Amino acid sequence: MTFEQAKQVLEKNDQGHVLRFWDVLDAGERAQLLDQVAGLDFASIARMRGMLTSKSAAAAAAEPTAPEVVELTDDARAAAYAAGEAELHAGKVAVLLVAGGQGSRLGYEGPKGAYSIGPVTGRPLFYFHARKIVGLCRRYGVRIPFYIMTSDVNDAATRTHFEDHNYFGLDRNDVTFFMQGMWPALDEKGRIMLDQPGHIFMSPDGHGGTLTALDKDGCLADMERRGINTVFYFQVDNPLVEIADPAFIGLHVVRRADISVKLCAKRDPKEGLGVVVEREGRCEMVEYTELTDEQANRRTAAGELYFKYGSVAIHVFSLPFLKTEAGKAMPLHLAHKKIPVCSENGTAVQPTKNNGYKFEKFIFDVLPDARAVVNLAFERAEEFSPVKNAAGSDSPATCKHDMQAKWLRWFKAAGIQMPVTAAGAPVFPMEIDPAYALDVTDLKKKGISLKAE
Ligand code: UTP
Repeated sequence: MTFEQAKQVLEKNDQGHVLRFWDVLDAGERAQLLDQVAGLDFASIARMRGMLTSKSAAAAAAEPTAPEVVELTDDARAAAYAAGEAELHAGKVAVLLVAGGQGSRLGYEGPKGAYSIGPVTGRPLFYFHARKIVGLCRRYGVRIPFYIMTSDVNDAATRTHFEDHNYFGLDRNDVTFFMQGMWPALDEKGRIMLDQPGHIFMSPDGHGGTLTALDKDGCLADMERRGINTVFYFQVDNPLVEIADPAFIGLHVVRRADISVKLCAKRDPKEGLGVVVEREGRCEMVEYTELTDEQANRRTAAGELYFKYGSVAIHVFSLPFLKTEAGKAMPLHLAHKKIPVCSENGTAVQPTKNNGYKFEKFIFDVLPDARAVVNLAFERAEEFSPVKNAAGSDSPATCKHDMQAKWLRWFKAAGIQMPVTAAGAPVFPMEIDPAYALDVTDLKKKGISLKAE
């Protein structure tokens, strides 16, 4: 893109100020800025500006009701599991990990997936995910393609991490990295914000950016070429996730769902998990902040929370549904934030109060488009313990505790009594390579016993 082209497109979109430092930029800065302008998605920026300026009140939405949530009985689980295994055996399942976030709450420099979590080995989050896929490929005798979404902030480091660890035993031809989009932030007047005289402040476009990015980078076409039908989706920060859980996959396939959602009972009425509701026959996700106090605390006659379940962003998608959705403009969500800017004389300023808006797309906003949705309940202790914060709840400490508690239960079920403290924690740290045992059945097959030294 030339300067003239950039000027024209920016002025046409009322963003001419982006070039205001042009005369003082060196050649490198000019090239960088032109590159950034060439990559701007002006259609989305127009929608963002519309959100800032629109005064029209949202149409009154119908009252939400609780959707059907499947709680599998043992027999139903066995049937769903068999159907899921058939799908896996047939090589129709792909795995999709979103790892483009900034992990700001954890405060870790580097991709969150590279964060050390193994209680014994200190192995990273990526290790536990990748080794599960290694285990699944071996068990079902298939290649399972693994698509990893990164962003500008961590793409290179993520690729290097996988290289450095020899792809954790995965076939590198089956691992595809693809980058989500980046969006500018807008100030109160809807103007694109510069953080340096020759640089536009940009941040990832949210996990909803997965759909466009999958399409743009040819991943949907690649899935099609490989004969994929079903895509298992999860987030990087939860090493307890049961990747491609056959019962979940099976239920999704048997019910011909477009999207399936795993849900666990909320810890308390206001826990920060999205809640799936039904409105006028369609499912949708309501953020916990959007539930009224009455809705959050409402109880059934049996005394249970009416909106009992929260979503932990573990989904299954059908490939045709992903393809349809990739072409649609998703809703935008805005957040008022402190955005680093440069002042009129070109010096960098770290704001002390919110001065602009970041915009994101959320993956769950595709829910209302789905013809069929499966909501499946699961046990939190078995499958969900995310690393979100540096300390306190949902931190590395709670996650390591929950990983070991799960493995302790496996050992117990396999007839091996590990030494535990009075509080039930393991006396010494323990860790199981998921490629060695994906579940308690695998562990039992190993026929191990505990010998006193
Ligand atoms: P979170 O909402 O927890 O965000 O992302 P985060 O960036 O990891 O952490 P904070 O909020 O800055 O502390 C949930 C999942 O969605 C991915 C993250 O990588 C994580 O797996 N994600 C989030 C993306 O892939 N892209 C995004 O733009 C945002």
